[in-house]
Amino acid sequence: MLGARGGWRALRRCASLPRAVRLRVREALGAREAAEAVRVQGWVRSVRSQKEVLFLHINDGSSLESLQVVADPSLETRDLTFGSAVEVQGKLVKSPHRMQNMELQAETIHVVGPCDIWSFPLKMKERHPLEYVRQFPHLRCRNNTLGALLRIRSEATAGIHSFFQDNGYVHIHTPIITSNDCEGAGELFQIETSREAKESAENTHFFNVPAFLTVSGQLHLEVMAGAFTHVFTFGPTFRAENSQSRRHLAEFYMVEAELSFTENLQDIMQVMEDLFKTVTSTVLSKCPRDIELFHKYIAPAQKGRLEQILKHKFMIISYSEAVEILKQAPQTFTFKPEWGCDLQTEHEKYLVKHCGEVPVFVVNYPYDLKPFYMRDNEDGPEHTVAAVDLLVPGVGELCGGSLREERLPFLESRLQRLGLTDAYQWYLDLRKFGSVPHGGFGMGFERYLQYILGVDNIKDVIPFPRFSHSCVL
Ligand code: 4AD
Ligand code: MG
Repeated sequence: MLGARGGWRALRRCASLPRAVRLRVREALGAREAAEAVRVQGWVRSVRSQKEVLFLHINDGSSLESLQVVADPSLETRDLTFGSAVEVQGKLVKSPHRMQNMELQAETIHVVGPCDIWSFPLKMKERHPLEYVRQFPHLRCRNNTLGALLRIRSEATAGIHSFFQDNGYVHIHTPIITSNDCEGAGELFQIETSREAKESAENTHFFNVPAFLTVSGQLHLEVMAGAFTHVFTFGPTFRAENSQSRRHLAEFYMVEAELSFTENLQDIMQVMEDLFKTVTSTVLSKCPRDIELFHKYIAPAQKGRLEQILKHKFMIISYSEAVEILKQAPQTFTFKPEWGCDLQTEHEKYLVKHCGEVPVFVVNYPYDLKPFYMRDNEDGPEHTVAAVDLLVPGVGELCGGSLREERLPFLESRLQRLGLTDAYQWYLDLRKFGSVPHGGFGMGFERYLQYILGVDNIKDVIPFPRFSHSCVL
């Protein structure tokens, strides 16, 4: 038998098959020394044909930068165009240009997949606006901006997992299909089987009960916090909000954490702030070039602002203070600010501006505005609950969280009034069997990306946006 290490190599040598080392573009660009036989695969970002020399730029998604290929013009073929998929083999050498560390001197160029440039919606060397590439969800990932975004998104995802794992949280896969409406806001997508499946089934409901796509993993996380103390989940959530706004999606990703033995809203806010700062610092240091693209072309002042924000504590105001600030504002709002009414986008915007364009926690909201699970502050008859929203400049609400009502009698009476006692028996059980003070929060992942990158529209920070009247692909 051939050994895994020496065997195959030895066989190749015997058969004298010249196999060049396959490198990703990022590896080739970062190589410290020249290499004789290198193979790079990717898509052509530019072709420049001169009399004596042919220049190509190859990108394979491993970095924002493309690798420069220098070739003899005789290697040019009709199929070698912008957008085509190629495999180039040759020598990796130090580049004489200061802009790039290494370049590839091609010996062979093989067009793996030609590209019909006349109908290809992306054009060479054009900086396409985000609105334009949004029309092509199947192709826009080959554009620099979306490429950078998706690499940042991937690093931020890893950063979020690391943050929680490093701090002793257990990751839980909360279900996507659920039989409850956590937020009670009636923004549920109901699940039904297809007509064919229905015809062959005896039951009208596949699950015997109505089932929905989850709006939040919180209630399932609360179950788990009752055994693991600190837990988190990070998955897709769904809301049938009939909104085409620049900060709402029908399918979005939410990071949620739940902490047992927590009596203070401050502790929850601390985790929110630490999560934000740690993940942002990681992303800034791990993807400097990709981030630079956004901070140079999309939101020029964002870099400095973020650096400042990372250095300072987030502000905290109460809901009542917020309403007072709004009432005294020199501007008139479409929705008149009034204690007991929800904060509207225009109000959030004003509050953030009033506080100096920094992240602001708003705490202790009116009891009647918030879902049944939030803890009564007992500052009057059902006056306020221990809720917190984190508002950030340009985006508005980034996180929502609260202490949960862990006291059985309080929860029982609230559920009874809402007529939800039967549906939430299991949730009441959690308060009967070793209930502890606990709380948690959820952060909208797309809104997080929007904020750190300064991207105006949420549809540009998710690979395949879903919103009302649109589910392309
Ligand atoms: O404030 P929300 O509704 O909180 C909850 O669902 C809690 N159960 C979370 C928890 O405590 N575990 O949603 C949390 C965040 C919002 O602050 C917002 O950033 C984001 O989710 N979000 C949306 N993002 C994009 N599109 C939508 N339609 C969103 N709705 C909420
Ligand atoms: Mg909310």
